[in-house]
Amino acid sequence: MSKRVRTAVFPAGGLGTRFLPATKVIPKEMLALVDKPIIQYGVEEAIAAGIEHIIFITGRGKGAMEDHFDISYELDATLERKGKRELLEVSRKISSMARISYVRQKEPMGLGHAVLCAKQLIGDEPFAVILPDDVIDAPTPCIGQMMKVYDELEGSVLATMTIEGPAISAYGVLAGAQDASNPRLYNCTGMVEKPKFEEAPSKQAIIGRYILTPGIFAILEKTGFGAGGELQLTDGILALLREEKVYGYTFEGKRFDAGDKFGMLQATVEFALKRPEFGERFRAFLQSVIA
Ligand code: G1P
Repeated sequence: MSKRVRTAVFPAGGLGTRFLPATKVIPKEMLALVDKPIIQYGVEEAIAAGIEHIIFITGRGKGAMEDHFDISYELDATLERKGKRELLEVSRKISSMARISYVRQKEPMGLGHAVLCAKQLIGDEPFAVILPDDVIDAPTPCIGQMMKVYDELEGSVLATMTIEGPAISAYGVLAGAQDASNPRLYNCTGMVEKPKFEEAPSKQAIIGRYILTPGIFAILEKTGFGAGGELQLTDGILALLREEKVYGYTFEGKRFDAGDKFGMLQATVEFALKRPEFGERFRAFLQSVIA
């Protein structure tokens, strides 16, 4: 199977209940981290890694996402008339970023189901999955790091990070041994979705970046509904593991859970501090607040 990874699937059908009331009307993927919707960070990461086609799995009330990545004639014409060239550039760049397709997931029936919705558009190729809530700040795009691992090993790759203590129960957790020659690589032997702390097979939490082989589709079609009455991607990958090699990869970079109120606050502070136009001013402000 050594086809190149060209497509990234963005499951974006979830209800965003962790961020209510902000997400009652606004899709959580459109919440701004400093000045960009969180989904745009994931899209920029994918494009920087060489992804050519983006598939958004959307649902009811997610129209703002489609508008965001489309041309906005009124806005562009107004910016042009007012001579706001830089802002016009910002607006135009978003609409010409990538080839984007939309698939509607009629009911939020789990991550595995969302990925399965992309089957017809992907066909028989390996592909990436990016969970937009997980914003990753990295010197090399996280999904690009994983594509490199896929090119070398030709097996599915799951992003992982070490989580200490009971917080591990919020994640899919990997079982497996660290590779002898590459400490970032795990030879996966199993995984559990949101285990109890005492039952977690390791400290390696699965983070929202995956490279999957197309074999996952047939498996998801026959996988039953698992934890929480949903078709779990973790259960599908576990079944894939019986047929193919699967790897965990401890990516280089820092991950924020921007779909969570506290995670969004952390990301906001860190990303704002890095902005050349106001980072220093913001640092001084924070120091004055906590002094
Ligand atoms: C999903 C996955 C889980 C993974 C997590 C990473 O869970 O099911 O395996 O660890 O994303 O963010 P969710 O956060 O959507 O409940």
